[in-house]
Amino acid sequence: MHLPNLLDAKRRTTKEVNYLDYENNPSLFGLNKKYYLRTYGCQMNEHDSENIKGILESVGFISTDIMEESDVIILNTCAIRENAHNKVFGLLGRIKHFRESNSNVIVGLMGCMSQEEVVVEEILKNYKWMDFVLGTHNINVLANVIKECMDNKKLQVEVYSKEGDIIEGIPVKRDSNITAWVNIMLGCDKFCTYCIVPYARGKQRSRKKEDIIEEIKDLKEKGYKEITLLGQNVNAYGKDLYNDYNLSNLLEDAAKTNIDRIRFVTSHPWDFTDDMIKIISKYKNVMPYIHLPVQSGSNRILKLMGRRYTKEEYLELYKKIRDNIEGVSITTDIIVGFPSETEEDFKETLDLVNKCKFDGAFTFIYSPREGTPAAVMDNQVDESVKSKRLKELNKIVNKYSNESNKKMEGTIQKCLILGVSEKDSNKVMGYTENMKLVNIKAPKDTIGKIIDVKIEDAKSFSLDGVIVK
Ligand code: SAH
Ligand code: SF4
Ligand code: F3S
Repeated sequence: MHLPNLLDAKRRTTKEVNYLDYENNPSLFGLNKKYYLRTYGCQMNEHDSENIKGILESVGFISTDIMEESDVIILNTCAIRENAHNKVFGLLGRIKHFRESNSNVIVGLMGCMSQEEVVVEEILKNYKWMDFVLGTHNINVLANVIKECMDNKKLQVEVYSKEGDIIEGIPVKRDSNITAWVNIMLGCDKFCTYCIVPYARGKQRSRKKEDIIEEIKDLKEKGYKEITLLGQNVNAYGKDLYNDYNLSNLLEDAAKTNIDRIRFVTSHPWDFTDDMIKIISKYKNVMPYIHLPVQSGSNRILKLMGRRYTKEEYLELYKKIRDNIEGVSITTDIIVGFPSETEEDFKETLDLVNKCKFDGAFTFIYSPREGTPAAVMDNQVDESVKSKRLKELNKIVNKYSNESNKKMEGTIQKCLILGVSEKDSNKVMGYTENMKLVNIKAPKDTIGKIIDVKIEDAKSFSLDGVIVK
């Protein structure tokens, strides 16, 4: 039993990160058994789930979409906001009923919630029937943990609160054979005062550039068309590992592999350099799409959030990106109702949105997270005020994303076709270089290809187009 500890999770040590290779579990104890995996949260968690699937399938399990058919149920969870918690505990209630009449089924909790002291306390108290809780730093031991659960029915908790090592070569079963996630770094050291990620994911650790480039070359060889470099804060790539190698160098090396499309998320405005802008505009296979979370337009709130930039600095960077990267689209994240946010502060956010005219924005109501500094700040904002502000903000955000879509009408765009359209099975769907979703009249054999598309119509959240022959 290794229980999470909030104090350890806050601490940053100077201990060197070890780069280790994955150790295969040679026994095929999962043969003839099925697993059901539910994933919540960000792209990083989606990619972790691809590793979870890879590990399970390497010992013989096969996947099922029907929970009631499975022998192993895993919830890969997110802790970023309270509602993510509620969803998981709600589902665990349902699973409990199923488990009562199927006592051989193994039920496990993974992901960021498992790193939380309060969550594990709750499980030890009220969910003792569960089989395992495994943290984010050691998913490499998953096969052994499940084997142990099969041999010995007793709740196992294996959560480490100090940052983990980097394990290369974890098996992976990717969801797509066209686009792929590539982790470039783990953890985050920014400690924005509202955010749980630095506790749930540990200190910032960059993967070695050689390992990343090798992975990209391998994906290209296997026919992948697009990769997305992943990190909580990709602009800080390399700072913990190299003196003179950063994200712009990595992007350039990735571009030189000649893979068709390269994307990266998430950019923190604080570390965004001119060199990056140069590289993005220089290489045609680095896509002109930047997700640049601003969080607030009020300097007072930005300071309380610990974001380390001002509204003016953000606007300056924003303009530089718009002016220097052709056809770029920029999206953002915004939080409303951070502790002590006044109507004036909120107006500053609206003003920033009106100035930037984002191509899209993810907007959130502030949710207090246990252990973070903001959760104990004075003047928490009323829920009704938060909801009202969110509504008002969304109206403006949607107006600009509509306008941005409208501007695409009549243009010809290169689209990477990912599959059949969800809206109309006679159409295919794909993304433009600047990350707009397009439903396209085109034959199915375009799936997996990059084609020219004439944009005919703009909807609120997508575009309609037709293949250019
Ligand atoms: N690393 C990224 C953000 C990852 S979390 C960055 O720094 O930009 C994704 C988004 O969730 C954040 O950008 C923020 O807008 C939102 N978020 C994080 N913590 C939150 C909280 N406690 N309440 C509400 N939204 C939050
Ligand atoms: Fe959270 Fe800030 Fe790190 Fe993003 S940069 S993951 S918001 S602490
Ligand atoms: Fe959620 Fe963890 Fe990602 S808290 S947003 S799954 S890093």
